[in-house]
Amino acid sequence: MTIHSNIPSIGLGTYMMSPDEAEMMTYEAIKIGYRHIDTAEVYRNEQGVAKGLEKALTDGLVSRSELFITTKVFPGNEMWGQNQKSFDDVMESFDNSLKRLKLDYVDLYLIHSAHANKKRIEQWKALVELKDSGKISFAGVANWNINHFQEINDANLSLPDTNQIELHPWAQQPELVKFLQDKNVHIIAYSSLVPLSTWRQKDGENSLKTKDMENEGFSDESLFKILANKYNVKESQVLLQWALQLKYAILPKTIKIPRLKENFHFSFVIEEEDMLLIQKENKGGGITWEWGDPLLVK
Ligand SMILES: NC(=O)c1ccc[n+]([C@@H]2O[C@H](COP(=O)([O-])OP(=O)(O)OC[C@H]3O[C@@H](n4cnc5c(N)ncnc54)[C@H](OP(=O)(O)O)[C@@H]3O)[C@@H](O)[C@H]2O)c1
Repeated sequence: MTIHSNIPSIGLGTYMMSPDEAEMMTYEAIKIGYRHIDTAEVYRNEQGVAKGLEKALTDGLVSRSELFITTKVFPGNEMWGQNQKSFDDVMESFDNSLKRLKLDYVDLYLIHSAHANKKRIEQWKALVELKDSGKISFAGVANWNINHFQEINDANLSLPDTNQIELHPWAQQPELVKFLQDKNVHIIAYSSLVPLSTWRQKDGENSLKTKDMENEGFSDESLFKILANKYNVKESQVLLQWALQLKYAILPKTIKIPRLKENFHFSFVIEEEDMLLIQKENKGGGITWEWGDPLLVK
């Protein structure tokens, strides 16, 4: 069983959704055809996701085996005054997530970042054990860089099935992408919609996006606007299709039902010459974590 053949290419992201929003959007997404829902213990909305799932299952929209549910353990960051989680702490976090989600297994469990520099291997061993015991179908990480993968390799442990990382035309991470593809680690792209003027516009939705970047999103000369006109699609769909053509799974998040539909239903191919133009849009590092790019963690 490989994650490549199991993971749906388009999933629903739920970061910054309240539990009520997560409940509604999980249900509506499943109705539209989404089968992958991405949450995390730190999103504090697993209970909302659970209610949406329960309703969809009760209404007979889908069966559990057709769904692909991802959640994440936060490893602990000493810079934020947190303890780095031990093997047992990870197991406890997992049990708590399972209870909140009201599930008896999750499809994919991720270590949310590489911040636990003294406990990374111990935490990874916990995920390997969870996978061996059948409580998770796939084990992965998020925001781990090449050095972090090298540590797992040096400890003679099996590599993660997947790495969930910030990937969009402004943060293309060519070196890391090549490394992961060479090692057959499936890539899940998050924050695909960063270049849009509508990305995280509410108060408190902070990030490292600069004023210049904001202005680029509004400009009529934005490449994504030009391509959206050319292909007669939404700008958002250009960004999502770019990722799909590069074989990344994607997790667009929205609390608006028309957007939920347009993030799922589109069918066009970006021509090679336009993919090359998009390649030139790379600006370098991550933008979405307001506390700094987690790929730079030592
Ligand atoms: N592992 C990690 O560290 C990590 C970090 C970040 C994200 N993630 C995961 O990836 C998911 C997606 O990333 P994200 O939440 O940063 O951002 P995203 O999906 O790239 O973009 C979401 C933002 O774009 C807006 N939007 C969504 N669809 C749109 C459309 N069709 N047209 C115009 N605007 C649209 C949303 O506003 P409305 O909601 O108002 O529509 C929201 O402000 C997260 O929810 C989470 O599950 C993981």
